[in-house]
Order: sequence, then C-alpha cells, then structure tokens
Amino acid sequence: MHLVTPKFPFAREHGAEPSILNAKLRGQGPVSEVELFDGSKAWVVTQNQLICDTLARDGKDLSADRRQPNYPEIHEGGSKAKEARPTFVNLDDPEHAKQRAILEPAFAPIAVESYRPMMRRIINDVLDKMEQKKGQQPIDLIKEFAAPVPTQIIYQLLGIPESDVDELSKDSEIRASTSRNAAETSNLTLQKYIHDLAELRIKKKENDLVSDLVDHYEKGDLEREDIDALSFLILTAGNAALISTIGMGVIALSQHPEQLEEFKRDPSLAPDVVNEIMRYYTASALNCRRVATHEFKIGGHVIKPGDKVICAVQSGDRDEAVYPNPEKFDIHRKHDPTKLLAFGFGPHRCVAEGISRLQLEMAFTSLFQRFPNLRLAKDPSELTYTPPAQNISVAEVPVYL
Ligand code: HEM
Repeated sequence: MHLVTPKFPFAREHGAEPSILNAKLRGQGPVSEVELFDGSKAWVVTQNQLICDTLARDGKDLSADRRQPNYPEIHEGGSKAKEARPTFVNLDDPEHAKQRAILEPAFAPIAVESYRPMMRRIINDVLDKMEQKKGQQPIDLIKEFAAPVPTQIIYQLLGIPESDVDELSKDSEIRASTSRNAAETSNLTLQKYIHDLAELRIKKKENDLVSDLVDHYEKGDLEREDIDALSFLILTAGNAALISTIGMGVIALSQHPEQLEEFKRDPSLAPDVVNEIMRYYTASALNCRRVATHEFKIGGHVIKPGDKVICAVQSGDRDEAVYPNPEKFDIHRKHDPTKLLAFGFGPHRCVAEGISRLQLEMAFTSLFQRFPNLRLAKDPSELTYTPPAQNISVAEVPVYL
C-alpha cells in the first residue's frame, strides 16, 4: 500500500479545530515522517511526553540555530532569518544561555508583579475606549481590545513613548510574528525605529528594557547590534500569540456559557481559564523546530545527525495520555503547567511566560467584569480564521457589549 507522507504544517480541516492528523499520528508511533514545503523530510513528534524528552535535548543533541543548513524551515520566507543577526531564540548554549540570562530579570516573577499596575492602567484605558463605542455596536474585539492590550504593554516595557503608539501600531509585523519568526520580518521602518530608540537610550537611560540592554552593552556583554536585535525580538515575539489567545479565548468561553458564567462569578478561576485556553488552541504551534546534531533515540526511533525534528506542541497539548477527553474545553481540568506545551519546553521555553499569563488573566477577568453581557455578534463558524496551515488566529470578532 502506498502511504502519502503528510505535509507539515498540518492544515486545519474545519475552522479553528487543530488538524485531525495530530491525533492520527499520535496513535501511530513515536515519530512520523512529514514533508516540508521544499520537498525535504522531517520527523514530527506528536506525543506530549516524547516532545518534552526531545526538547530537553536542546543544546546537547539538538540545535535551534537557523543558520544550520538542515534547520527545518516551513516556508520560503524562513531563509531570511538566516541573514538576520541571531538572537537567543535561534542560538544554542552557551550563547543562548548568556543572552537569555540578560533578559530573564525583566521577566522574573518579581518583575512581572511590578508591572501589574501598568497593565491594569492599560487594560482600563482600553476598556474605557470600548465603553465609548457602545453606540456603534457590534464592535471588533480584536481591534478594540485583543490587539491594543498586549501591544501597549510591550511598548511600555521597552520604553516606547506613548506619542509613537498609534503610528507604530500600524505595522503589521507587531501583530503577526512569533518568537521564532521575528527574524523573518524585514520591516525596515520598525527596525529603524528600534535602532533610533536604542541610540536615544545610549545617550540617556530611562527605566525600561532597552536601557537595561544598553547597560549590558556598556559592560561588554552585548554588541551594539544585539540591542536592536533583542529589542526587536521582544517587540514582535509574543504579540500575535497573545492577540490570538485573547480572541480565541473569548470565542471558546462564549461557546461554553456555563463555564463563562462560573468564571464571571469567580474571577479566581482566571489561571485555570488561561491554562485551558492556552492548551486548547496552542496559539504558537509552529515554533519548536530543531536540527539534530548527534544521534539519539525518540521512543526507540533513531534520529541521525542532520535530521530535521519538529515538536508538534499543539498535538502535545491535546494528547489523551495527559489530558483525558482532550477535545473538550474544560476550565476545571487539573493542569501540570510544565506539561502545557503552548509555551514550549526545555531551555527555550518562553522567557515571557509569566508576563503573558498574568496579562491574559487580567485581560479576561477585566473584560468580563466590565462587560458582563458581552456576546458574539456572529456564530464562530462565520468568522475568518488564519489560513489553515498557519498558527490559529482570528481576523475579527464582532461582539455586542
Ligand atoms: C501567549 C503568548 C505566548 C506564547 C504562546 C509563546 C510561545 C512561545 C514558545 C512556544 C516558545 C518556544 C520556542 C521554541 O522552543 O522554539 C517561546 C519562546 C520565546 N518567547 Fe514566547 N510566547 C508568548 C509570549 C511571548 C512574549 C509576550 C514575548 C516577549 C515579550 C515572548 C518572547 C519569547 C522569547 C524571547 C522566546 C525565546 C526563548 C528562548 O529561546 O530561550 N513570548 N514562546
């Protein structure tokens, strides 16, 4: 019998639902062969535990360095990233660890907690503006809430002045990138903006992330270009996933009104709600791609140096071995956060997980506290989602407040 090698990324068959290939391949064995856009072959790992075991080999048997000739790109534009100055997301230890350590303090729990008042102010301002649009309903939740909240928070963190917010937010890369493809964007306006901001901070430091990077540059830990590359990474890395998670989260909650009512009555459920939304959609599903540098085994299957390896984290987040009845959206699920693969696993696990979780918790809680009658103006089946082989996101979510 002739078996067709599936193409990766797997295309969603219906609306926002992950491809059925995930579940099919999970049942077939430790790894499955897939074909990439350029005709090359890669191994895809679909089971939760094996994904964790595999990503734990990062920097030892696996490389995240996109300059490696066999790094698994998933579309033509990926090769651009090889030309950009690499940041730690695309580096292996020890360079990865060294750069990551520079940013970690800004994302540590104590720092994240200190951002709470700033995040509260931004969310409240955005909600106030929404309130003023009550006369123009339905309004687009993505444009009015899901996009401005994370974008303005990241601007604040980096130290981008509020006067530049409107102009800068027109740049789509801020809305569309992920940590791993940030380097693919060649938006010169944005890059020049970041470069000029760094120049200003070199002359006079402020209390912001770009100034922290300047400190490290002055100490000799970073080169001048690293300030720009890292600032650009932070600006673009997580926004799309946050926007998508807010939009998709509101859709999921609206489709499960009893759970939504419970959440409105008891906002302390916010961490569970966020865990379940993250698990259910895995907005950043195409990041965890590597190339093998040494021979090793995944569940008994031998991986050879130079093999392309893709960890299908979206599949891992719906693995029945960890999540019974995985297709069910259930905010009461017991989560082991280390098993939640939406933020990756191992040395490259999202450096901004803490701030992302907190802002999602605050965003969902505040949105439904302010607008308890919020409801979708269209059935989810009528909404426009990203093309089926891309990370899940939704273009517009019209709502009544
Ligand atoms: C819901 C929001 C987010 C999701 C789902 C997400 C997801 C991920 C995933 C899956 C990885 C691992 C990539 C890999 O192993 O190849 C990652 C890494 C990373 N993320 Fe996030 N992310 C989010 C928000 C953010 C934000 C807001 C920022 C920036 C402020 C950010 C910055 C990064 C960076 C710099 C890395 C690289 C870490 C490393 O290589 O050590 N992420 N993220």
